[in-house]
Amino acid sequence: MPELYFDQIRYLSLTKIPWVTLVDLIRKSKNIGESTYSFKTSKWSPLPLRVVLLTFVMIFGVYVCSVYLKQISLQKYPVDISFSSEKTKLSCNSHDIPPEEIPYVHFPQPKTFSRTECSCTPVRYFALLSMQRSGSGWFETLLNSHPNVSSNGEIFSVKERRSNITAILRTLDAVYALDWLSSASKNECVAAVGFKWMLNQGLMDHHKEILKYFKSKGVSLIFLFRRNLLRRFISVLANNYDRRAKQLNGTHKSHVHSKEEADILAQFKPKINTAVLVSNLSQVESTTADCLKLFNTTRHIILYYEDIISNQNVLQQVQEFLRLPVRNLKSRQVKIHRRPPSEQILNWDDVYKSLNGTKYEHFLHQRDYVT
Ligand SMILES: *[C@@H]1O[C@H](CO)[C@@H](O)[C@H](O)[C@H]1NC(C)=O
Ligand SMILES: *[C@@H]1O[C@H](CO)[C@@H](O)[C@H](O)[C@H]1NC(C)=O
Ligand SMILES: *[C@@H]1O[C@H](CO)[C@@H](O)[C@H](O)[C@H]1NC(C)=O
Ligand SMILES: *[C@@H]1O[C@H](CO)[C@@H](O)[C@H](O)[C@H]1NC(C)=O
Ligand SMILES: *[C@@H]1O[C@H](CO)[C@@H](O)[C@H](O)[C@H]1NC(C)=O
Ligand SMILES: *[C@@H]1O[C@H](CO)[C@@H](O)[C@H](O)[C@H]1NC(C)=O
Repeated sequence: MPELYFDQIRYLSLTKIPWVTLVDLIRKSKNIGESTYSFKTSKWSPLPLRVVLLTFVMIFGVYVCSVYLKQISLQKYPVDISFSSEKTKLSCNSHDIPPEEIPYVHFPQPKTFSRTECSCTPVRYFALLSMQRSGSGWFETLLNSHPNVSSNGEIFSVKERRSNITAILRTLDAVYALDWLSSASKNECVAAVGFKWMLNQGLMDHHKEILKYFKSKGVSLIFLFRRNLLRRFISVLANNYDRRAKQLNGTHKSHVHSKEEADILAQFKPKINTAVLVSNLSQVESTTADCLKLFNTTRHIILYYEDIISNQNVLQQVQEFLRLPVRNLKSRQVKIHRRPPSEQILNWDDVYKSLNGTKYEHFLHQRDYVT
């Protein structure tokens, strides 16, 4: 059960009707009493009728109380979760929001700034779940080119923030309260706020608590994976190499903004250890499957890097998923490995042999770059 909202509770409220009815009944019973006094001479005794009525009123009163108490216990849950944002919801007009959307809509009240004219602009929470070298850095720059999106980067790359679940939840709270300061922090009119989370950064280790948090806060998940795990592997090895070699004038870069820089990085051809290649690929595959299984009861969308490259509609789908006005998204990043895998692996023949005939054979042939 996600959060309940005051609007819904007000709608659920039965108290108004019973109290009116109750008062009405009491008045009626009094009337009966009065009218019987005016028939003083009458032999007909009003007593049994009044007893019956009073009993009825008492039973009805108990019923009303029980309904009222039930309501209070319903109310307790959302108030505990995030009282301050719920409080705003009362004053912001959320009548235009369809009921099924309500669990995903928020009106944060940041401590570090005021949302001023946009304080009643609904905000959606998202998390981009991905793995290294799957295009998530590029994808995040695309998202951040939208004026209403704030995607705060790989915040859990810092170990202390993921050292225990308390630290993780505190970090998440700050991000979703719009109080996380990063280069992606936008103005007060943000309509979608989130960050990038790599599967090996505490997400899978604390999946139970994190899933609970995502569901109670109505966080929408964007899974971003890469179909061709061999090409991803080339990128992982090349990036590891550059971490040491620092090929671009002595600095290590994971992402580049010019074709010249991309070509320098792509000159390196890794030699792949074919003895463990299949196990390396299947490990990535099973981690991905585990993640999908663990988090698929949340609201989510699954994206593949190759599809974003070849199909602009995917970016439109993502914006619709986050309920954003659709814009043309742009990134200055340039793809590093643009050639086919055969030209990017030192021991290509060995790699070919080790994957030929396996379920990963298609990775040898697939292109992910449209020229
Ligand atoms: C959780 O991690 C933070 C940051 O590393 C640390 O300050 C805190 O003491 C830890 N809390 C618990 C309960 O271990
Ligand atoms: C997007 O941001 C602009 C200003 O930056 C604001 O006027 C607009 O209302 C925002 N749109 C949404 C859907 O939040
Ligand atoms: C490296 O530095 C030289 C001279 O400072 C400059 O001309 C060149 O563009 C730089 N190359 C890269 C890849 O940054
Ligand atoms: C590939 O698998 C081997 C053996 O399991 C492991 O030692 C190695 O770190 C893996 N390589 C990468 C890049 O994941
Ligand atoms: C979640 O994943 C399981 C196993 O793959 C599948 O059976 C189930 O239908 C999925 N549920 C949703 C809501 O997608
Ligand atoms: C790939 O495997 C097939 C049989 O499965 C074989 O006929 C073919 O020669 C192999 N290709 C290479 C380049 O080893």
